[in-house]
Amino acid sequence: MIAVAIDGPAGAGKSTIAKTIAKKLAYIYVDTGALYRAVALNTLHNGTDPSDEEKIANMLKKTCIELKFIDGVQRVFLNGEDVSDNIRTSEVSMTASKVSALPIVRSFLLDLQRDIAKKNNILMDGRDIGTVVLPNAQVKIFLTASAECRAKRRYNDYLVAGNTTESYEEILKDIQQRDYQDSHRTTAPLRQADDAVLVDTSDDTLEQSVEKIIAIISKKL
Ligand code: DC
Repeated sequence: MIAVAIDGPAGAGKSTIAKTIAKKLAYIYVDTGALYRAVALNTLHNGTDPSDEEKIANMLKKTCIELKFIDGVQRVFLNGEDVSDNIRTSEVSMTASKVSALPIVRSFLLDLQRDIAKKNNILMDGRDIGTVVLPNAQVKIFLTASAECRAKRRYNDYLVAGNTTESYEEILKDIQQRDYQDSHRTTAPLRQADDAVLVDTSDDTLEQSVEKIIAIISKKL
């Protein structure tokens, strides 16, 4: 099986780029952020403090998270319910960043991610795929862009979707806070693996980033 690991901060374009490439290569695209988001949604549903490891550990004992691929498209299930759409709010984003710092949450989700990689050719995106989840991935990419550029893209995406509730400044602040939390946690912090190729998408169009990464994959395989 072939695994391409794509790690990087929020808003670098990982999911859009990885989805496009997965389609071209006929690989399965796995968005691991959705798993942390599902845990976050459960935390919010239960009113559990996202930093209270003991309470979260108890909650996880009664939590079932599954990934299913329907026509090649990932759906995430929380206790049997498809929550793929409900996990895309900024409240869930921020809570996901908090719960993902807990070792108990990371180990709870580890085997699920590794099992998918055992059975399929995949492009998997996240924060620790190249460093922790799949250290033997054949290709590792670290995808990044300036915080301002990532905030601008997210702001434009929201505008296109008709969502005008968040200003550019608020989005930038959220992104900077999540960057800090994701890269300063003790367990599996966001960092570039030693053998990952760095790709900065700040000045690239989607097509240019896709081409760059396909060239890296072709060279490695
Ligand atoms: O990629 P995303 O924005 O959907 O991820 C949501 C949060 O989950 C992010 O702030 C950090 C966390 N995460 C993680 O710690 N490890 C991963 N492999 C993927 C996401």
